[in-house]
Amino acid sequence: MAATERTLVLLKPDAVARGLTGRLVQRFEDAGLKIVGLKMKHMDADFTRKHYFDLEERFGKGVYDATATYMQQGPVIALLLEGVDAVANVRRMIGTTFPAQAAPGTIRGDFAHMSKTYAEGTGKAIANLVHASGSVDEAKYEAQLWFADEEQFDYQTLAERYVF
Ligand code: TYD
Repeated sequence: MAATERTLVLLKPDAVARGLTGRLVQRFEDAGLKIVGLKMKHMDADFTRKHYFDLEERFGKGVYDATATYMQQGPVIALLLEGVDAVANVRRMIGTTFPAQAAPGTIRGDFAHMSKTYAEGTGKAIANLVHASGSVDEAKYEAQLWFADEEQFDYQTLAERYVF
């Protein structure tokens, strides 16, 4: 039997401050994904660097600095989710990076609309509500960065008999 995967999701400071936590967690539970870790954390500069360790290299200092400021604006909620092809499935559910291009039905498409042009013109970070691991390797790195072994749980949900 193929194994399930675990993936990290962050509800970013705008999602928490807008009171969207319950509705966003609900979407993942509705899809049958299992919550195997959950915490609230205020990211500091060091931790932000560890989480987005290659962002500056990929997109430059401006993007990194704007993102770091945004992520440290308030607490985030971290979720470790388990399911079938969980990494790809959760990426599909959150939608593409820039909300203006994210399809309706995705979290970024339904709860935000900011464009890349607007963000660049104002020097703002893209307030796109959620982070999700981009690959299986990234998910493994992020799971251990955010959750100690004893914070990662094994249990059975009633739904998994049907959805896994
Ligand atoms: P990235 O990993 O490319 O996107 P995703 O979150 O969809 O995996 O970038 C990480 C975050 O950096 C992204 O969610 C928002 C921010 N960012 C900007 O603010 N401006 C940009 O031009 C890019 C590419 C990213």
